[in-house]
Amino acid sequence: MSSAIGSPHDRADGPAKVTGAARYTADAAPPGALHAALATSRIACGRLTALDTSAAERAAGVVRVLTHRDMPRFPKLTAPPAGHSLLPMQDDRIRYEGQPIALVVAESLEQAIDAARLVAATYAAEPATVDFRDRLAGGAPLESAPGLEEVKSFVESDTDVGDYRAGLAAGEVRVDTTYRTADRHHNAMEPSATVAWWEGDRLELRDATQWVWGVRMAMASAFGIPHERVHVVNEFLGGGFGCKGWTWPHQILAAAAARIVGRPVKLVLTRAQDYTSHGYQPASEQRVALAATRDGRLTALRHTSVTPTSTFDDFMEFAAVMSRGLYASPAIQTRHRVVRVQRSTPTPMRAPWEGLGAVGLECAMDELACALSIDPVELRLRNHAERDPSDGKPYSSKKLRECYLEGAERFGWSRRSPEPGSMRDGGCRVGWGMATAMMTTFRNAAAARATLEPDGSVLLEAGTQEIGTGVRTIMPQIAAEALGFPVERVRIELGDTSLPETGGTFGSSTTMGVGSAVQDAALKLRAKLAELAGGAAPDGPEAAAQLLRRRGLARVSADGRWSPGPRLLGASDEHAMAVFGAVFAEVRVDELIPIPRVSRLVSVYSAGRIINPKTARSQMIGGMVWGIGQALLEESAMDRELGRFLSKNLSGYLVPANADVPSLEAYFVDEVDRYASPIGARGIGELGAVGVGPAILNAIHHATGRRLREVPVRPELLL
Ligand code: MOS
Repeated sequence: MSSAIGSPHDRADGPAKVTGAARYTADAAPPGALHAALATSRIACGRLTALDTSAAERAAGVVRVLTHRDMPRFPKLTAPPAGHSLLPMQDDRIRYEGQPIALVVAESLEQAIDAARLVAATYAAEPATVDFRDRLAGGAPLESAPGLEEVKSFVESDTDVGDYRAGLAAGEVRVDTTYRTADRHHNAMEPSATVAWWEGDRLELRDATQWVWGVRMAMASAFGIPHERVHVVNEFLGGGFGCKGWTWPHQILAAAAARIVGRPVKLVLTRAQDYTSHGYQPASEQRVALAATRDGRLTALRHTSVTPTSTFDDFMEFAAVMSRGLYASPAIQTRHRVVRVQRSTPTPMRAPWEGLGAVGLECAMDELACALSIDPVELRLRNHAERDPSDGKPYSSKKLRECYLEGAERFGWSRRSPEPGSMRDGGCRVGWGMATAMMTTFRNAAAARATLEPDGSVLLEAGTQEIGTGVRTIMPQIAAEALGFPVERVRIELGDTSLPETGGTFGSSTTMGVGSAVQDAALKLRAKLAELAGGAAPDGPEAAAQLLRRRGLARVSADGRWSPGPRLLGASDEHAMAVFGAVFAEVRVDELIPIPRVSRLVSVYSAGRIINPKTARSQMIGGMVWGIGQALLEESAMDRELGRFLSKNLSGYLVPANADVPSLEAYFVDEVDRYASPIGARGIGELGAVGVGPAILNAIHHATGRRLREVPVRPELLL
């Protein structure tokens, strides 16, 4: 058997991507395709009193201008897979800035954009509050989002383990403090795009989506047609990070326009429209209370998170989930509340839940370590949970202790002088901080097919998307391992609802789910070949091709699948499941110009079996860069007067550039998880973005003695 799994194979689609051969959604150009451009609302709340499209209609090349007057009335869709429940252009109400009010369809892209500017809207504006902190300050009700039954069916907004009040009373040292994270946007390199056309009563879509099946469901529901009549293809995705997980108004509009004009319609969002068209990561206000004995054992932990949602949906960001499962406190209380603002509905963004929640929990743990004069790593080891504190289940596999110890060793943590401000390098104060990373394990059912081709190569088929993480690279590795074939002789076709069904590419679930289905298909193919051979399976492509010829067969196929059972996330009936890591950060803060610079990040992760160390490392360091952004740069500021995001572009929304990114080291502890999935893997994709933010904040405290409780860090607070 080859050692395909665990080898650092290069990206299978690397050459196609760097030579421009890879086809993204906006590259699709069906014959006769028209271009569409959106006109969007300039106010956040109110009503359209007039919408004059006559100038746009007269503009060169314009085929049709669609508004709420001519859109079909869509039925209520279920959410998810709809990103928000407000269907586009159904009436004259405006509920958020950036809401589509007209769609111009023209012969060329330039003509469509030009004419969209000529759509003249008059509004009766109503007062809008767009910042949830203004609503909080004004005493707005905190809602527990009772309408969110779909979400509540798999994760609770409130949990209580043990007696929180008794635990608090038993503590000898307490920390009770509030942390804030900012609104952020995904900023995928590829803007969202949809190309739609109808073939009779069948809908064809090329769509920049993380979930072709979700788009199919949403479209079937919107247009009242059976799922089988919707075909969705996504060959390459230029990033998604959550914003392409669900179906949003622009996809529905493109399909509706194609039906109305009777020609293919291509709608590519502008960068600015990306800021209002498919959700954002909501800001959070998190209050964390910890109580502990003098020797650093937690007696109580409470984590409360408040986030904004829209006026029309109950989106809840579960930022306190990490506090339910990380530390062995006898009493743990978590609460999630939402406050309504006049904006579109938020959506998951890498890494949802724990990515925000770790800022609260892991900075509070650092404050507790300082209050107790206990080393931050030692404090975490003393409170390490051997079983899931929420229900007492053993973990499927958990090597977090090893992560702390290996990370500390690699970083050189033992040389840390504990006193804040005590480490210097020239004119800089140097700070060393650390934090724990953790992420819920989402497990999605998947199907896959493996086919031995006449030349002895193997074709894998699975409808999953290549979001850029290496799906095309690792699935052949998994099948090659099972078949004993060279990896180079296995390829995969994906991103298509005519292929075997998988889950969406989110929740860091693809390797585990699709990989397990691929392994199942490959093992079944191997068994079929062994049966055909009347003994052992052929030991490689040449022998396999000969076998086909001997039996007079062109191909042999096997269908595989994996189903993790009824629990989507975090557990099976027997085991708790999560991925973990320890993140160590070094920052330098110049004494004169106190802009914190990250100079070193070292992380060690426990995430089950690693299929490809090269693509896996790439995932983790990508996530670590996101963490730098969260800590120091990323914020979608709001213009409270205009009710809009202030900077809808990458010059106003700061993301880390090369100069912001130091040496990044990411390691995995050796691990095979026998319970999470048949391939021994758990999910890693988003884990890298967790823990980095708080590790950097804790390092800034260590450097300067200043405890900052809000991200992104404002250098002026360090003056
Ligand atoms: Mo990720 S936010 O689950 O696409």
